[in-house]
Amino acid sequence: MSLLEVRGVTKAFDRTPVLQGVDLDVPSGALAAVLGPSGCGKTTLLRVIAGFERASGGTVTVGDRLLAGPGRHVAPERRRVAVVPQEGALFPHLSVAGNVAYGLPRSAPRRDRRVAELLELVGLQGYEQRMPAELSGGQQQRVALARALAPDPVVILLDEPFSALDAGLRASVRADVRSALHASGATAVLVTHDQEEALSTADVVAVMRDGRVVQAGTPQEIYRTPHDIDVARFVGEAVIIPATVRDGVVWTTLGALPLAGAAADGVGMAVLRPEQVILVPEADGLPARVLDTVFYGHDANVMLEVRCPGDVLMPVMCRTQGDLPRSESVGVRIVGPVTWFPKRPYDVMPAGAQDAASA
Ligand SMILES: Nc1ncnc2c1ncn2[C@@H]1O[C@H](COP(=O)(O)OP(=O)(O)OP(=O)(O)O)[C@@H](O)[C@H]1O
Ligand SMILES: [Mg+2]
Repeated sequence: MSLLEVRGVTKAFDRTPVLQGVDLDVPSGALAAVLGPSGCGKTTLLRVIAGFERASGGTVTVGDRLLAGPGRHVAPERRRVAVVPQEGALFPHLSVAGNVAYGLPRSAPRRDRRVAELLELVGLQGYEQRMPAELSGGQQQRVALARALAPDPVVILLDEPFSALDAGLRASVRADVRSALHASGATAVLVTHDQEEALSTADVVAVMRDGRVVQAGTPQEIYRTPHDIDVARFVGEAVIIPATVRDGVVWTTLGALPLAGAAADGVGMAVLRPEQVILVPEADGLPARVLDTVFYGHDANVMLEVRCPGDVLMPVMCRTQGDLPRSESVGVRIVGPVTWFPKRPYDVMPAGAQDAASA
C-alpha cells in the first residue's frame, strides 16, 4: 500500500508547463528515488509535495489525508513532510544540537534526549556542541537529516543531498543516510540525477522526463526492462544495436538473441548491457578489436569493434576485470535476453539496420 500518492500533478510557471501530469507512489517506509536530467522538474515536484508550491492540477495524498487537490492546499508546516535541501542547509550560528533541536517543538519533553537519539541515528553521537563549520560535508549532511527527522515527519524529501560531496564520501554518506532512514521508519523521496545513486540507494525508482514519470519500479526492473530506449540509455550503460524481431527472436548483426518479454514482429533496436558482452577465445566468437579501455578500479569498460557477418563493423562495450591493450584481437559472444523496442518515426537507425532486417 502506498503511503505517498501523487496523481496527475501539473504545475506551470507563467504558462510554461513544468510538471505535466506526475504520478508517483511510495510505499510506507520505502525510499524512493526520483531520477531525471537537469530541468525535468524534480525540485518542483518536491516543492509541490512539501506545499511550498501550489499544484496547478492533480492531487497529493499521504495516508488518507489529502494534502493538495482541487480547492485544497494544506500549509507546509501542517503536512508532516520534511525537506532536506541540497546544501547549506544548517544554521551556521547554531551548534549541532541547536540545529537538530530547531526542528523540535519548544514544548517537546526531553529535548536533549531526543537530540541525542537523532544524532545516534545518523551516526554522530557526541557531536552536540560542534559548530557546522567544524564538520565535514558528509557530517553536515547527516545533521541536516537529523534535523529533518526531529519533528517525526511522515514523509521526508531529500533534494540531491549528496551532490556536494566528493566521490569517496558520497558512497558512505549515502549508505549511512539509507540506514538512518530505514531505522527511522520514515517514507522518503530522494531526488537525484545520478543513475548509480538511484539504483544503489532506493527501494523504488521513478524515472522522470519532461515533467512526467515515464517509468517506476524496482531498480532491477528499471535496469532490466526499461520502458523505452531513452530510459535504457539514461539508466546504466547501454549498447544499442539495430534489431528485427521475428517469431520472438531478436535478429541482429551480432546474431540471433533471445527476447526479454514479448514483442510483435518488426524493425527496431535492441538494448544490451555491457555485462552481456562476454569475451571468449577468438575462435569461439565473433572477431573483435579493442578500441579503448576506461579503467574504473573495480572493473573497466572496454570499447570493442566487432566484425559482423557481411563485414559490418559494430561498436560494442563490455566490462572486464583485466587489462586489454588497444588493438588487441578478441572474440565476443552475447549472453542473456535482450530488450527490444520498435523503431519510432524519429529514430535514426545506426549502420547495419538493413543487414539485420534482411537476415
Ligand atoms: N519559480 C520558478 N519560476 C519559473 N520557472 C521555474 C521556477 N522554478 C523552476 N522553474 C523551471 O522549471 C523547470 C524545472 O525546474 P526544476 O528546478 O524543477 O528542475 P530539476 O529537475 O530540479 O533540475 P536540476 O536537476 O537542475 O535541479 C526549469 O525549466 C526551471 O527553469
Ligand atoms: Mg533540482
